[in-house]
Amino acid sequence: MAKKVKVAIAGVGNCASALIQGTRYYKNKPDAARHADDWIGLTAYNLGGIEPSDIEFVAAFDVADTKVGKDLSEAIFAKPNNTVKIVGEMDRMEVKVQKGEVHDGIGRHLSEKVKVASSAPVNVTQALKDTGAEVLLNYLPVGSRRGTQYYAESCLDAGCAFVNAIPVFIASTPKWQQAFEGKGLVCAGDDVMSQLGATVVHKTLVKLFVDRGVKVDETYQLNIGGDMDFYNMLDEDRLEDKRISKTSAVAAMAPYEVPMRIGPSDYVSFLDNDKVCYISIKGEYFGGIPVELDLKLKVVDAYNSAGVTIDAVRAAKIAIDRGISGPLESISAYCFKHPPIQMPYSVAKSNFIEFVEGKRER
Ligand SMILES: NC(=O)c1ccc[n+]([C@@H]2O[C@H](COP(=O)([O-])OP(=O)(O)OC[C@H]3O[C@@H](n4cnc5c(N)ncnc54)[C@H](O)[C@@H]3O)[C@@H](O)[C@H]2O)c1
Repeated sequence: MAKKVKVAIAGVGNCASALIQGTRYYKNKPDAARHADDWIGLTAYNLGGIEPSDIEFVAAFDVADTKVGKDLSEAIFAKPNNTVKIVGEMDRMEVKVQKGEVHDGIGRHLSEKVKVASSAPVNVTQALKDTGAEVLLNYLPVGSRRGTQYYAESCLDAGCAFVNAIPVFIASTPKWQQAFEGKGLVCAGDDVMSQLGATVVHKTLVKLFVDRGVKVDETYQLNIGGDMDFYNMLDEDRLEDKRISKTSAVAAMAPYEVPMRIGPSDYVSFLDNDKVCYISIKGEYFGGIPVELDLKLKVVDAYNSAGVTIDAVRAAKIAIDRGISGPLESISAYCFKHPPIQMPYSVAKSNFIEFVEGKRER
């Protein structure tokens, strides 16, 4: 029998929209196709007994006046969200978006585009308890350190697992790891490593160079997009953790120091939720002969993240049911850029599968 997982969301932006639409998209597939082992866009239709439609969204928090107070099925299409629509009409979800504390969620750029709802914030801990949320998925804007800590603290008080999609370091920080372990709760993160995104491609290519005996001399990764994530990231003051997260994932693939520059690079409004990434790697192979690789990758950003968070949420539920607590190492290494333990992609994936199959403790 399928296991249900009750999920709360903090930040009803493009990523939340893609994940929610995606669970409906797969639910609407005909039975025969649903049970194909290699269903398009998913690593597994059934992951440890959990199918996409077993993910139940029970609570949602935001601060934007276009979203607070709306049913979640409407809020995911409210401006300034601009990702693509993959479902026709969404049924009402009967989950009203509640207002959380703003803290540092709306930075100086976002405040030009987003008006904060005038209503009073709810008690997030109480809302998590009342809805029986098992996992809170954190989708706040980059640079929301205090905001992220506030949702993590609410999870600790409510008895809810924390899955951190953003580059603020919770699951990868001993203080927070111990706090979750101490309460018998799990945490996973930090900063989603998208399904076929810049980070997994870049780290895999650097690993390939190294494995093939090619010396990596220098590398960069530039990223542009036209959504609020990229608009917010024009503020370099909010980017410290994002640059660390993205750079450390690639740097860990070489056993020597490589000069590199990696991060969000500009906002191009007409790209909407498309993200374009340029990767360049220069190196030397046999006889010191130079080699150069240049790559362009274009994706719809939010769906690229949803293809991974759908696994992170399901795996967190598996961990909860096994009575595990503290940071989830294999899930985090597979699904996130800045995990507690960094691993090459292929190792992370096989550890993740072993975890799901019950052959690995965490
Ligand atoms: N491929 C990807 O898209 C990807 C990959 C890795 C990480 N991320 C990260 O995931 C996060 C979400 O991305 P997105 O594209 O959905 O961003 P978004 O800007 O579309 O959504 C963020 C949402 O958070 C809300 N918010 C701001 N402060 C809040 C608060 N205090 N409480 C509750 N809600 C608040 C905003 O109003 C907005 O609705 C970003 O930090 C992004 O960098 C995205």
